[in-house]
Amino acid sequence: MKFKDIYLRVKARIKKAKIDLEERSFLTKDAIKSIVDSFSEDWIEKTLQKAKETLAPSFDEIPIDFQLRQSSWIRKLYERIFPVSHAFRISYRYGREYLDEYMPISNDTFLGRGSYKFVYALPWKMVIKISKSILPSDPLCGSLFKDVQKQPERFLTREEIALYEYLSKKMMKPQKEYLWFKFLRLGLERYHYVIVKENLPDLVIPTRFFMGMRYRNKPFSNNHLESIRPMDVQLMLTGKHLKEFAKAGKKIQPRNKLLQLFKPPTYQFTFDIGSFGHIKKKVLIKIKEDLLRLIRFTERLAKEEKLILDIHTENLIITIPEFELKLFDFHIFDEHLYDYGDGILNPEKEHIEVIEKFIESFGLE
Ligand SMILES: Nc1ncnc2c1ncn2[C@@H]1O[C@H](COP(=O)(O)OP(=O)(O)O)[C@@H](O)[C@H]1O
Ligand SMILES: [Mg+2]
Repeated sequence: MKFKDIYLRVKARIKKAKIDLEERSFLTKDAIKSIVDSFSEDWIEKTLQKAKETLAPSFDEIPIDFQLRQSSWIRKLYERIFPVSHAFRISYRYGREYLDEYMPISNDTFLGRGSYKFVYALPWKMVIKISKSILPSDPLCGSLFKDVQKQPERFLTREEIALYEYLSKKMMKPQKEYLWFKFLRLGLERYHYVIVKENLPDLVIPTRFFMGMRYRNKPFSNNHLESIRPMDVQLMLTGKHLKEFAKAGKKIQPRNKLLQLFKPPTYQFTFDIGSFGHIKKKVLIKIKEDLLRLIRFTERLAKEEKLILDIHTENLIITIPEFELKLFDFHIFDEHLYDYGDGILNPEKEHIEVIEKFIESFGLE
C-alpha cells in the first residue's frame, strides 16, 4: 500500500471517528457515574493494605518477561549512572506538598515495561508502575483523554487539583502546561481502569492511581534527581504471560518497509497449555469462559465505541498456582490511533484471533 493511501485512509477514519464520538453514550454517561467515587473504594485499600503486610514472592514466581526487560546500551548506561532509588506518593496537605508511602525500588527489582510504564517489584506483594514521559501527541491521548480534559474534576480529586495549583504557582507557562498534562494523564489512567473494571470486575486486579515523585541517585553525591510522574500500585501477580504458553511463533512483519522500522513484529502463536502440567478440566473451562467474556467486551468496545482494548499476549497473565486469567494493563486506544495503517481494518480482531487459538489449544469440546 502506498504511503499516500495510508495517509488518506487514516485521515478519513479520524473524520469518521469524530462523528462517532459525538454519539458516544454508554461509557461516559450511564455506566460510569462518578469516576472519583469508584477509585476510592474501600476494597482496593483493604486488599492493598493486606498485600503490604505480605512479603513479595521469589523472582521466579513472578511473570518476568526478559524481552521486556531488555534496553538499549544508552539506556543501560543511563541506568548505571543515575540508578533509580525510591518513590513517594505526593499529595497536598497542610497548605503545601506532602510526601508519604515510601517505596524502595532498584534496577534489580525492575520487572519489565510496555510502551507506557516501568514496572518494579516492591519488597512486599505489590508492584509499582511509573509512567514513562509521553507527549500530548501520543496515541494514548485520544477521545478519552479529551473527556478528561473537558471535565478534570470527574477524574482528579480536589486535593490533586490543589496540588497542581500549588506546584504550578511559580512555573512558567510551558512548564505549567506540561505539569497539567501529567495530571490529566493520571485522570486518563483511572478512566481506563474504571471502564474495564465496570465491565469485567472479577478479572481486574486492585490498582491505586496517584501522583508520585520518582528519585534517581546522582553520581558521587548523596543527592537525588526527582521527577513527578503519574504512578500506580497494584497487587503483584505470580504466573505466566499468555505468550509463555505458546510453543512456536511465526514472525509477521508489516509489508511496508517504512512501517517495518516503527512497528514491532507480531507473532503467530500455537499454544500448549499442557506444558504447565496437568490442569483440571473445570479450571480450563473457567479460563475459557473468562477469555470469552474478555473477547465479548473487546468486541463491544470496538463496535459500539471504536475503542481498542490493548489485549496482546504480554498484557494477559494466567496466575499460577490458581490458573486464573487476570488483567493488569487497562490501556484503551481510539481505533484510528491504534491502527498503524498496516491494512488491518479491525485491530481488535488480531488480538481476538490469538486468544481464540489459545482456547482451542485446551482441547475442550
Ligand atoms: N501486577 C503485576 N504483577 C507482576 N508483573 C506485572 C504486573 N503488572 C505488570 N507486570 C509486568 O510488567 C510488564 C509491563 O506492565 P504493563 O502494565 O503492561 O505496562 P505498559 O502499560 O507499559 O504496557 C507486564 O508485561 C508484566 O510483565
Ligand atoms: Mg502492557
